Amino acid sequence: MLKRKDLLGIKELERGEIEEILNTAVEMKKILKQNVKKVPHLQNKSVVILFHENSTRTRMSFELAAKFMSASASNISIATSSVQKGETLIDTGKTLDALMTDIIVIRHSAAGAPHLLARHVRAGVINAGDGMNEHPTQALLDMFTMRERFGQIEGLTVGIYGDILHSRVARSNIYGLNKMGAKVKVFGPETLLPSGLERLGVKKAGSMEELIEGSDVVMGLRIQLERQKKGLFPSIREYARYYGFTPERTRLLKKQALVMHPGPVNRGVEITTPVLELSQSVINEQVTNGVAVRMALLFLLTRGIRP
Ligand code: CP
Repeated sequence: MLKRKDLLGIKELERGEIEEILNTAVEMKKILKQNVKKVPHLQNKSVVILFHENSTRTRMSFELAAKFMSASASNISIATSSVQKGETLIDTGKTLDALMTDIIVIRHSAAGAPHLLARHVRAGVINAGDGMNEHPTQALLDMFTMRERFGQIEGLTVGIYGDILHSRVARSNIYGLNKMGAKVKVFGPETLLPSGLERLGVKKAGSMEELIEGSDVVMGLRIQLERQKKGLFPSIREYARYYGFTPERTRLLKKQALVMHPGPVNRGVEITTPVLELSQSVINEQVTNGVAVRMALLFLLTRGIRP
């Protein structure tokens, strides 16, 4: 049973805890499908969303998840907050505690920022992405989507391609999929693959073709265009040709395979419009499932810590 104040990473979760979150999300998705989505599970609870980086999906889905469960949901705009006057993260956290916040959802460019915050506040802390470290709720919604389609994660082969090095989504998925009994393969430019992949139980594919052919799930990652300036991969055009999911490569996709991407996508770079429009593409379903998974987390994390 999940008995934590915080959700900081998949690395620290046990398989049973992941299963409990996914099982609870199944019930939450039923609520999402109803005409009346409002339930009282989080009545009188207060959720604060503190994002130091841009977001559409994660921010919105946490806000909706809180509201559907009758919590108050407040967004702090960093640009107009006291962070601009030099307030530290810990002092911002203590201020939110004083405002009787139950859960702080934080996204930060610095790896470890949610962990630091969690050590200093009474409120529960959810990591919504910290630098190049983890994006645990993305991995949970990805695993939820796979389990919903295939019935189980155990035994699946998941091929992740692109900028693995800088991707917190890849890191959280690798931890989670390993714990759940899936095999993970990766492909990308050598300069964008971290060292020590084998230690994480990950195999490297030799080409996009090899990755796609053997996978039950093909997961693309957003190429972070700012990296191109550092010369970590060839031109965008060459990247798309050698490391992108082009329409020609769809013939290699297994009939039942899923195409996934955390979003936002760079159309025509790591993935093309015809691939996005395949019936096997579940990218929009991932977004919906993100609300269900975040409802489950807010529910489970607030269950024990407040009267
Ligand atoms: N997948 C993801 O984290 O998207 P956002 O940056 O839009 O939240």
